[in-house]
Amino acid sequence: MSTSFVLKGDLLQSISPGELSVIEDGYLVCVEGLSAGAFSELPERFAGLELRDYTGALIIPGLVDLHTHAPQYSYRGTGMDLELLDWLQNYTYPEEARYRDLNYAKPAYEAFVARLVAGATTRVAVFSTVHVPATLLLMDLLEQSGLASFVGKVNMDRNAPDTLREPSAAAALQSTAEWLEQTAARGYRRTRPILTPRFIPACSDELMRGLGAMQQESSSFVSDTQESSPSSPSAAPPSAPPSVPASVPVQSHLSENLREIEWVRELRPQAASYAAAYCDDGLLGGPSCPTIMAHCVYLEPEEAALLKARGVWIAHCAESNTNLASGIAPVRSYLTDGLRVGLGTDVAGGSGLSVFRAMMHSIQASKLRWRFVDERLAPLTAAEAFYLATRGGGSFWGKVGGFEEGFEFDAVVLNERAPQSAAPLNECAPQSAAPLAERAPHAARPLSPAEHSPHAARPLSPAERLERLIYADGDACVVEKYVAGGRVCAT
Ligand code: GUN
Ligand code: FE
Repeated sequence: MSTSFVLKGDLLQSISPGELSVIEDGYLVCVEGLSAGAFSELPERFAGLELRDYTGALIIPGLVDLHTHAPQYSYRGTGMDLELLDWLQNYTYPEEARYRDLNYAKPAYEAFVARLVAGATTRVAVFSTVHVPATLLLMDLLEQSGLASFVGKVNMDRNAPDTLREPSAAAALQSTAEWLEQTAARGYRRTRPILTPRFIPACSDELMRGLGAMQQESSSFVSDTQESSPSSPSAAPPSAPPSVPASVPVQSHLSENLREIEWVRELRPQAASYAAAYCDDGLLGGPSCPTIMAHCVYLEPEEAALLKARGVWIAHCAESNTNLASGIAPVRSYLTDGLRVGLGTDVAGGSGLSVFRAMMHSIQASKLRWRFVDERLAPLTAAEAFYLATRGGGSFWGKVGGFEEGFEFDAVVLNERAPQSAAPLNECAPQSAAPLAERAPHAARPLSPAEHSPHAARPLSPAERLERLIYADGDACVVEKYVAGGRVCAT
């Protein structure tokens, strides 16, 4: 299918944390997978492109889930009366051990990917388990889905049951190296590996240092490659895979729970802080080591400064932080101080994969923190949560999260009267598009006047419609979505 086309509808994007841009009844142009811009009138030069008419529907950039766990989808919503460390030992680790068996992993990962496909998420950074075959299976499924992802085979060689723990640092490093080789051989287009030490309590010093060395090696490989074949694509060797592996980034957990933080202090007494321990091992940001750290609930000021200096992305996981009684991260101060922040669903600490819900939880948590903890940190607004869910997390992939020219064309079409939504959210919205699971290839059809309900009290503005989608299950209203210009299809 062509990746050059035009979408027509009510275009809504975040420009900055405080600023939404709205073009009602506008045109969003995709040329070969990249946005050519959002316009109120279609420029003449694009008049020849196929027009996909979603008049009346809301079109937003794809939502980004910057932190979640695929193998935990199967037991979401259980064990929620425990705190992190007991929850991991009693629920998470026994469940993750089952992914040794591909017959168990396959239907579980299929369900995970199907749920991601059905919602508004277009990109995800995800943990699998320690198991290489199941991780590759998850990557195959994500690649087939058309979503863009970073997937991490988990590393853990201590403080976990023998059924899950890798037997030694050497074994974990060996299996990670083999996994990286296999992912390169598969030539994925939108599915990329990410180094994933689970967190410091689960990784010996030797394992952490080995992963840091591996990361450094991956970035020197990239600069070598770039030196020998500069910008011109024709200079690439004919046998190069479709996407030359960039330096392998890193994801992990940081400063989520008070007992965990105390434990890290005991385990790494030489380190100046929890964040510094990652940094000492070469696993905390910098130009050649893009890094996501989930949670960051209790960062000391020096740790926040270190994350800022190293350009680390914080994945804010508000629902999980509530469910596991971890705490409330001071996202407002991270934003004010210029740190990079996106949102994570963190299933199964979080109960589901909706990034709309993650926006709602982050706003709600910030209100409680403001009211009960620190009145100097104003609650997040809906527009700010939308920023975090689009540009905030999207920037981990580069030019992702907005509609300006040159950005990857990730877009979600939302119809508040979609038949699968439990109750119509907006009587003024159209009812023309089919639910995602039943879609035929796109058939453009403008709405008849009757499809705009004449009985609505008043039309909602696009910003009000966004707010309702955040608070009232926007994922149920998705009728179509695109990643880098490709339609994401329910399988
Ligand atoms: N810290 C280490 N592992 C995990 C995990 O699986 N979930 C959460 N929420 N925190 C963790
Ligand atoms: Fe997590």
